[in-house]
Amino acid sequence: MKKIVIAIDGFSSNGKSTMAKSLAKEIGYIYIDSGAMYRAVTLYCIENRLFDGEKLDDNKLHNEIDNIKVEFQLNKDTGTPETYLNGQNVESKIRSMEVSSKVSIVSAIPFVRHAMVALQQKMGDAKGIVMDGRDIGTVVFPNAEMKVFVTAEPEIRARRRFDELRSKGDTKTTFEEVLENLKTRDHLDQTRAESPLVKADDAILLDNSYMTIDEQMQWLLQKFKQITTN
Ligand code: DC
Repeated sequence: MKKIVIAIDGFSSNGKSTMAKSLAKEIGYIYIDSGAMYRAVTLYCIENRLFDGEKLDDNKLHNEIDNIKVEFQLNKDTGTPETYLNGQNVESKIRSMEVSSKVSIVSAIPFVRHAMVALQQKMGDAKGIVMDGRDIGTVVFPNAEMKVFVTAEPEIRARRRFDELRSKGDTKTTFEEVLENLKTRDHLDQTRAESPLVKADDAILLDNSYMTIDEQMQWLLQKFKQITTN
């Protein structure tokens, strides 16, 4: 069967990573979480004191961007790729609220996006890849054979993210903070000048507000089969 590129874009915390990960596993493709790459660069900025409050030292980041190595390595126990920043596993650190609240600033910078997009395109050279993000179907792989744009109601997405934070031991962050952060990120993602979040004309829309993970999986597999057997 021919290998294709699958681009899954959409708003934050709508379950697209979980869905992309399961789909990749099911069909034997590589899964890449492009948001994790922007989160890793953000973590670098925080750990190297490039932030002064909400103000980022762009010049310093520009000088250092070539020294920021973001990679993925397969965790053999879980079978899913984990994010590495300059050789260190940062999979858990990049999901913190601090990174979440600053990542929109970093991901809006054109030279950061250019560096990440170049890396992402290299990862997709051999096809057989499922990548999720915001601009995968529009900028990274405009010729992807399968494009999905995922959406869900903000309160439902916030509830999912809140439950995830609680399950990881965060007992401080409130639901209202999560919802606020999510709405702010939606707005920033959609209105930034460089590669804003927008549905590609040829993407299929998936509103998963009231779908179970299993229903989404069946939906995706059906689309995948249609596309690869045509
Ligand atoms: O999917 P996520 O929430 O982990 O993404 C983190 C941030 O990175 C989010 O605020 C938007 C940004 N992002 C982006 O600009 N382009 C992508 N392809 C993926 C994520």
